[in-house]
Amino acid sequence: MKRLAITITMGIQKGGCGKSTTTGILSHLLTENGYRVLAVDMDSQGNLTELLSEQPSNEFMGKSVLEAMQHNNVDEFIVPISDKLDLLPANNFLATFPRWIYTGKTYSGDTIPFKGNPSLILDEALDQVREKYDFIVIDTPPSLSEQTTNALCASEFVVVLFECSNWCYSAIPNFMDSVEGARNFSKRDTKVAGILRTMNDVRRSDAKAFNEMIQEDYPEEVFETIITRKAPVGRLSLYGFNGNSELKQALDQYESFYEELIERVKG
Ligand SMILES: Nc1ncnc2c1ncn2[C@@H]1O[C@H](COP(=O)(O)OP(=O)(O)O)[C@@H](O)[C@H]1O
Ligand SMILES: [Mg+2]
Repeated sequence: MKRLAITITMGIQKGGCGKSTTTGILSHLLTENGYRVLAVDMDSQGNLTELLSEQPSNEFMGKSVLEAMQHNNVDEFIVPISDKLDLLPANNFLATFPRWIYTGKTYSGDTIPFKGNPSLILDEALDQVREKYDFIVIDTPPSLSEQTTNALCASEFVVVLFECSNWCYSAIPNFMDSVEGARNFSKRDTKVAGILRTMNDVRRSDAKAFNEMIQEDYPEEVFETIITRKAPVGRLSLYGFNGNSELKQALDQYESFYEELIERVKG
């Protein structure tokens, strides 16, 4: 029997928690470790797309994950990034995904009637390529939208990004409920691989307090690794992964997260 890719979604319905950064770094680390990876951008902001392709997301107009889902054809829209890394890119038009699902109208004015299950579109599209990869990693928007539901229902595992703040703390319960909902509904037995504490400001006592609170609430789920704020990580969005002289510093604290994650998903 052929081995199928393990699919992991990065999520939380709040912006600025490190989802896109973590998805990009995870794809990079997986390929460095010899795995074949497909990175899927399900956020219309296209940040993962720009991080990995080093091109503006508008370059992928008409050639994105949205069209892959509308035409139910993934291969045609895959963008090769490196030997082991492929990308299904996104751009602003992905925001028209719900309208297409419910009216059949695409942003270009065409009609492509949609009859299937609105939450399983991505899952069914990815079935075409699961044999080609070891891992599929999916970035999501900062909302519990159709894009997020589709990502959760297409995944065996979810990494929940927790930026150590009050508003992120209040986002967590509903997000955990959404994962549970996907688990009951999808074919993938979707479950939380772990909660990753990110964007930690070591000088702030409130961040420390939230770290501890989330640990008390979800002792089984939290990863031991805590990602702190560091300029080289922030500057990945500027310099990318190729020819970036501070890449080692940027990746440094993600190595132990990577080890923990692989242990949990392959364990
Ligand atoms: N560990 C970090 N240290 C410093 N800056 C970071 C770190 N992680 C992410 N950033 C920056 O913070 C911002 C938000 O991160 P991003 O990955 O875009 O979050 P999200 O996808 O959840 O909105 C981006 O500008 C990113 O470059
Ligand atoms: Mg993002």
